[in-house]
Amino acid sequence: MARGEFNSRIGTFATVAGSVVGLGNLWRFPYLAGENGGSAFLLVYLCVSLLVSLPVMLSELSIGRSQRCNAMRAFKNIAPGPWFLVGFLGVAAAYVITSFYMVVGGWSLEFLRASVVGEFSGKSSDEIKNYFDLFLAGGTGPTLQALVSLGISLVVVVLGVSKGIERFNKILMPALFVLILILVCNSLFCLPESWKGVAFLLKPDFEKISLQTVLTAMGQSFFSLSLGMGAMLTYGSYISSDRNLPKTALGIVTFDSLVAILSGMVIFPAVFSFGLEPTQGPTLLFNTMPNIFQQMPGGYGFSILFFLLVYFAAVTSQVSLLETVAAFASEELRMKRWKACLAVALTMSVTGSMCALSLSGHGWFEIGGKPLFDIFDSVSSNVMLPLGGFFIVLFAGWIMPSRVLQSQLTNSENESPSINYVVLRFLIRFVSPIFVALLFLTLIGVI
Ligand code: PHE
Repeated sequence: MARGEFNSRIGTFATVAGSVVGLGNLWRFPYLAGENGGSAFLLVYLCVSLLVSLPVMLSELSIGRSQRCNAMRAFKNIAPGPWFLVGFLGVAAAYVITSFYMVVGGWSLEFLRASVVGEFSGKSSDEIKNYFDLFLAGGTGPTLQALVSLGISLVVVVLGVSKGIERFNKILMPALFVLILILVCNSLFCLPESWKGVAFLLKPDFEKISLQTVLTAMGQSFFSLSLGMGAMLTYGSYISSDRNLPKTALGIVTFDSLVAILSGMVIFPAVFSFGLEPTQGPTLLFNTMPNIFQQMPGGYGFSILFFLLVYFAAVTSQVSLLETVAAFASEELRMKRWKACLAVALTMSVTGSMCALSLSGHGWFEIGGKPLFDIFDSVSSNVMLPLGGFFIVLFAGWIMPSRVLQSQLTNSENESPSINYVVLRFLIRFVSPIFVALLFLTLIGVI
C-alpha cells in the first residue's frame, strides 16, 4: 500500500506541531511550573528538552522514516527479539494518558459551556474557584463532560477523518497561537502585579531544584513532545526523505517550549494579580482564566474562543492517542476497525470516569489517599514515557545499524560525518540514556 508523505516543509511542521501542542503546553506545563518553583522548573525543563528529549525525538523520527511503517513493525524489521515490546509499552501509556486527558478535555467543554451562558460574569476569583470545586465534587458533571470529550474523538477516529481534522488544525493552531499572544499582552500590560508573575517564571532560583523537579520536568518534556510511546515514530514514517530531521526536531522542540512559556506568561501574572495559589495543581488554568476574561475588554468573546481552541488542541492529541490504542487492537487482536475503536472507547470510558470521580473529594478511586487522576497523570509521564524513551534511544544508538542512523540524520551515507552528526550521535548513544537511567536509579534508591 502506498504510504502518504507530508508534502512540504511547512506541512510537515504544522502537522507534527499540531499533534504535539495540546493540554500539555496550556494546562500541564503551567500547573507543574507553579508547583515546582516556576523559573527553576523552566530552566531544568529547557535543559532536559535539549539534552534528553531532542535525542529521543531524533531517534523516533529516524527509526520511523527508515522503516516507513508502524512502531511495533519498525522494531521487528530492524531487530528480532523483544524490542517490539517497546511498542506495547507505548500502547499502555497511550491508554493511561487518554484516561485522564479526556477528563481535562471535559473541563474545557464545561468552561466553554459556562462561558457561552455567561456563568462567570461578575464573579470574584473565590466564586470562580467555588464554581469549579462544586463542579468537580458533583462527580456527574465532570464524568459526563469527559465522556462527551471522548465521544467526539471516537467519532473522528471511527469515521477516519483525522486527516480532515488536521487540515482544520492548520487554521486553528495559528489562531490559538495569535490568541495566546493577545492574552500575553493583556497579562503583561493590563494586570497590576504582572511583574511578580514574570519574575516567578523567569528569575532562576537554583535552590528550588531537587531531584524530584528534574524528574517532573523530564516527564513533562516527554509528555508535551508526545515522546516515548511511538507517536513521533509514526509521524517520522510520513516525512519525505529529503527533509532535514535535526532541523525539524529542533524547530518542534523550540515551538513547543515557546507555547508552554507563553501559556505561563498568560497565567502567572494573573495568578499574582488575582491573589490565586500558584501551587494549586491541575486546577490552575481553569481557576485563573475566567478572572482574566472578566477584566479584559471583549472578555466574553475571548473566553468562548479560548476554551473552544483549548478543546480543539486537546481533541487533536486525544485522537492520536485513541488511534494508537485502536490501531493496536484492530491489527494485533484482529478486530474490525470500528469494533476495535468501540471496544477501546468503552474500556476507556470506564477508566476515564474513574479518573473524573477520583477528584470529587469523596475518597472514590483513591489509592493511598491519592486520586487515580493524579496517579495516572504522574505515572504515565514520569515513568512510562521516559522508560519508553530510554529504550528508543538505546535502540537507535546501539541496535539500529549506525549507517542507517547517519543517513537519517544527515541525509547522506558516505561523506565523512559532520560535527553536528557526531554531537547528535553522542547525545543519542550516551547522554540521553545515561541521564534517564541515573535519574531512575537514584529515585528508586539504588544509587
Ligand atoms: N503532547 C500532547 C500534549 O501536549 C499529549 C500527548 C502525549 C499526545 C503523548 C500524544 C502522545 O497535549
